[in-house]
Amino acid sequence: MKKIMSAILAAAALISCTDNDPKILILYYSQTGATEAVAKEIHNQTGADMLRFDVAQVYDGDFDATIQRCLQEQARGFVPTLNPIDADLSEYDVIFLGYPIWFGTYAPPVKALISSVDLSGKKIVPFCTFGSGGLEASVKVLAANLENCTVAPGFGIRKARVQYAAEELDRFLIESGYKEGTLEPLEPYSESREMTEEEVAIYHEAVDSYPIPIGEPVSVASRPVTGGTDYAFAARSADPEGNVRENMVYVITREGRSPEFTRVNR
Ligand SMILES: Cc1cc2nc3c(=O)[nH]c(=O)nc-3n(C[C@H](O)[C@H](O)[C@H](O)COP(=O)(O)O)c2cc1C
Repeated sequence: MKKIMSAILAAAALISCTDNDPKILILYYSQTGATEAVAKEIHNQTGADMLRFDVAQVYDGDFDATIQRCLQEQARGFVPTLNPIDADLSEYDVIFLGYPIWFGTYAPPVKALISSVDLSGKKIVPFCTFGSGGLEASVKVLAANLENCTVAPGFGIRKARVQYAAEELDRFLIESGYKEGTLEPLEPYSESREMTEEEVAIYHEAVDSYPIPIGEPVSVASRPVTGGTDYAFAARSADPEGNVRENMVYVITREGRSPEFTRVNR
């Protein structure tokens, strides 16, 4: 009798779990492993199913070869062909969609995915890795191209900082309701103000080793966090046509670590 009761309770728990909890799939493309590392960490922290997708014409060259190939493909409007997806997507309510940023937005394999599978009605939670940034722009393009989906603001991390994905995902997943846990609330950033010499030095220590110029800082906002400070610098740079633009460049300091450039908002 006891055995039957526990079997009934287990079945009831299973039913209530499938009834209430959205079914999540982590679906990602990764060329060099950074996005894959983030996908695996989301899987570790949520237990959600995970699947890598790819295209028939694999991008297996080095960085320069991939850049050249993409430029040629963009010039002729080529969209690669998606390899068949080994999952029944209709079973899932939420798709964590992972990709590297290429040319300021999601890599072409994501184009292949969204042009050949039906994601309508699903909640899409983008996550990406990048050299310097591109989360916001890629999410905007995704939302425009997936009108029948709800596209969440998403998660992004620089490839150079992927070792911190676990701690940053912990906050992201709790805040967005995909994981249980408590968080220390974050203070809002201060008003934007003039920088001190020390802050200018922190900016340069964080960004100057990045191979592409990130811009010159003109003002800063900051907030204290446990073990350090978060900075949001407004930085000016000129595009190849000479137009001046301003981007937010995020830098953090943490006890025992050098200042880190976490992303540029674009
Ligand atoms: C063709 C190509 C274009 C890229 N364009 C950008 C870019 O516009 N902005 C950026 O921050 N990083 C850019 N990157 C860097 C990748 O986003 C970064 O290395 C990413 O973490 C790679 O992810 P993966 O290891 O999952 O393939 C580019 C990389 C490649 C190969």
